[in-house]
Amino acid sequence: MKFLKRAVRIVSFCIGAKASCAVRGDTNRRVGIGQANAFSCLSNRSGSAALETRRRSTMKLAGEGLYPAGRFKYTRAERRRRLRCAEGPARALRLISDRAGFARTQRRLIHLKGISLEIDINALPAAEQYKLLSSTIVPRPIALVTTYSEEHGDNAAPFSLFNLMGEDPPVLVLGLQDKPGRAGLKDTTRNIRDTGQYVVHLVDEDLAQAMNICAVDFPSDTSEITEAGLTLTPSSVVKPKRIVEAPIAFECEKLGLLQINAHRNIAIGKVVRMHVRDGLLDPATNYIDTQKYRPIGRMFGRLYTRTRDHFEMIVPSPQEWIARKP
Ligand SMILES: Cc1cc2nc3c(=O)[nH]c(=O)nc-3n(C[C@H](O)[C@H](O)[C@H](O)COP(=O)(O)O)c2cc1C
Repeated sequence: MKFLKRAVRIVSFCIGAKASCAVRGDTNRRVGIGQANAFSCLSNRSGSAALETRRRSTMKLAGEGLYPAGRFKYTRAERRRRLRCAEGPARALRLISDRAGFARTQRRLIHLKGISLEIDINALPAAEQYKLLSSTIVPRPIALVTTYSEEHGDNAAPFSLFNLMGEDPPVLVLGLQDKPGRAGLKDTTRNIRDTGQYVVHLVDEDLAQAMNICAVDFPSDTSEITEAGLTLTPSSVVKPKRIVEAPIAFECEKLGLLQINAHRNIAIGKVVRMHVRDGLLDPATNYIDTQKYRPIGRMFGRLYTRTRDHFEMIVPSPQEWIARKP
């Protein structure tokens, strides 16, 4: 009897879901959700802890964690209702795609595979790609970049799509997106393109608030430096000045400005001078004292992290590794 009840529940669930898809009139979607429901039924039936964990984490991804409530197409009550009856990743995927309003591409986007979600990231709209990438590649260092233009004077702005690409020569890269709404190049991009020179400053805990002010989209002739209460001093090699309050500054010369798409450039720069705040460099080792340095990292959105929690690991030699084996 118990078995019969369960079987009826499973069958009616599958039929129900297919019917709801049919109402939407999308065959591919129906197939996709049908497959997913098969998984859901299985998960209901087996009731295994692993599947439950998977169900919960996927629901969290779609419903609570990754996407802010206000951005859903559904009302809060409707979203709750959907989550309550969510039976597995399939539902979560549906929520993601419904939310983004691109059901048409749903079948191409995400497939159930093993215990992970597989995402065809190139098929997602740019904003969704950005969210996935920027919330996974964390924490990112922040470059506070100063540039100069004859027309508008000194400029400063932060960029977290930033990193070191190697030494000899020392190379840094910056990911520069255009201003929103087809408003054209950011001042930093335009100045790097036109002058080929800039200064990259690393941001520590003390500089965090001022860095944030420098991200305000002021008109080109308003100085972020003045607004943020920062001080400039002449650089040694390049024309753009450097920020006195920054713990580290790299004077850079452009090696190239790579246009990735109509709205994004990557600046590749060679470091021609480095400035280190007094007391940060250990002259014996030539390492920066990270406990004194206290750089911050960007997580995603408005979240940042401190970098005070260190731990040590040593890569063993092959011999050491073999000797360690039981
Ligand atoms: C922490 C942080 C990191 C940022 N990272 C980037 C980035 O990597 N690329 C980008 O195009 N904009 C980034 N921005 C936004 C720019 O700083 C912002 O658009 C700024 O106003 C550009 O100024 P500009 O027009 O003077 O160059 C970031 C903002 C903040 C607060």
